[in-house]
Amino acid sequence: MNTVTPKGIAAIVFTAEEIAAATVRLAEVIARDYASEPVLLVGVLKGALFFTADLARALPDSLDISIDFLAVTSYGNSDRSSGEVRLLKDMSEGAEGKHVLIVEDIIDNGLTLSYLQDLIGRRHPASLRSCVLLDKPYRRRVDVKVDYLGLTCPDTFIVGYGLDYQEKYRNLPYLARLEPWVFEG
Ligand code: IMP
Ligand code: MG
Repeated sequence: MNTVTPKGIAAIVFTAEEIAAATVRLAEVIARDYASEPVLLVGVLKGALFFTADLARALPDSLDISIDFLAVTSYGNSDRSSGEVRLLKDMSEGAEGKHVLIVEDIIDNGLTLSYLQDLIGRRHPASLRSCVLLDKPYRRRVDVKVDYLGLTCPDTFIVGYGLDYQEKYRNLPYLARLEPWVFEG
């Protein structure tokens, strides 16, 4: 790993190696469950950009995989959810009759995933499951079912590996906690 950490990073929460190991563990279970049916991975932009790409490549090439994306926003530009989820970009293909697997970066209050499950669920998919890399179970506001869960996060705002603070830090290969002054300045 790079020894020079970018401005504002306080500590690494999960290394690139830990993220990769969790992704492989998830891929093994998903591969078993979808061995006999095609799966449509629906990555949630922008946060799940890298996770979707890495998960897709961790799945065996014997699987029948398609990839689509949609984009939502809930946080605006702060570190607190507005509680309001907005669809910025829909899937390119329909979901009807397909085995859809939503691929999300992190679940916090649960509103984003719940919104997406409702949205795609109404389109009559053959099945609908969710795979989430990071779980923050501390402030759940809705009881949402997650089929595949990677890592449990400490109760803190994290960035990197697709996750941002005011659109920055997404490119970091690891997940990290920010210095408190970042939120004030
Ligand atoms: P929820 O709607 O509160 O479950 O939050 C889900 C969305 O909020 C995720 O898709 C992320 O984009 C964002 N989010 C939640 N926690 C964090 C965090 O610690 N860092 C960056 N983004 C987060
Ligand atoms: Mg997200």
